Amino acid sequence: MCYPKVLVATPVYLVLLHYPMTNRLGELVTTAVTNMDIHDISRSARTYGIRKYFIVNPLEIQHELVGRLLGHWQTEHSRMHHPDRVSALSVARLARDFDEVKKAIRDEHGEEPEVVLTDARPLPNSISYADYRQELMDPKRTRPCVLVFGTGWGVAEIFHPEVHRILAPVYGPKDEEGEGYNHLSVRSAVAIILDRLFGH
Ligand SMILES: C[S@@+](CC[C@H](N)C(=O)[O-])C[C@H]1O[C@@H](n2cnc3c(N)ncnc32)[C@H](O)[C@@H]1O
Repeated sequence: MCYPKVLVATPVYLVLLHYPMTNRLGELVTTAVTNMDIHDISRSARTYGIRKYFIVNPLEIQHELVGRLLGHWQTEHSRMHHPDRVSALSVARLARDFDEVKKAIRDEHGEEPEVVLTDARPLPNSISYADYRQELMDPKRTRPCVLVFGTGWGVAEIFHPEVHRILAPVYGPKDEEGEGYNHLSVRSAVAIILDRLFGH
């Protein structure tokens, strides 16, 4: 596969977490993988040169289901009739937990990735897209980066010790009440954030 090295020197990975998530009551939960998240995020990831899109879910039953689905997009029939979709889904990988993701990246690059959290809520010490884009473009940088996205009601705080950087929330135009509504679907958030970091 050909990566857009001219635009970004850093190898970039993407994670969609299904655990540890919060639900609407603030409880710790595991969420289910959705077909739309698999397809739409794979297509965005492929478009913006993401090395791998890790779908992280600890449940065996979810692995059977998603594994079957991803298997369908590796068949000769799919390759012949839907080559673009096969190409997009070729970046998707299943993982049981975040340690598995870190190990895969470490094995590939010999370095732990920088873990970058996304969230709709403003969190302390966040970095702007413009500033982080500059960091990723630094030709001297070798450290890979992994962009983390959530499901359910967002990534639970027990994940925060893993996090090195936090990207500022995406907002639309401000309304009279302040910052305004910004609760995007994870698919939209991925597409917008990838475009802000890597679009041209
Ligand atoms: C909380 S989940 C919502 C999942 C939901 N069930 C759906 O429809 O996709 C959305 C994830 O997308 C990202 N996200 C959503 N809105 C965002 C925003 N305004 N700024 C940054 N990230 C955002 C975060 O990673 C967040 O955890």
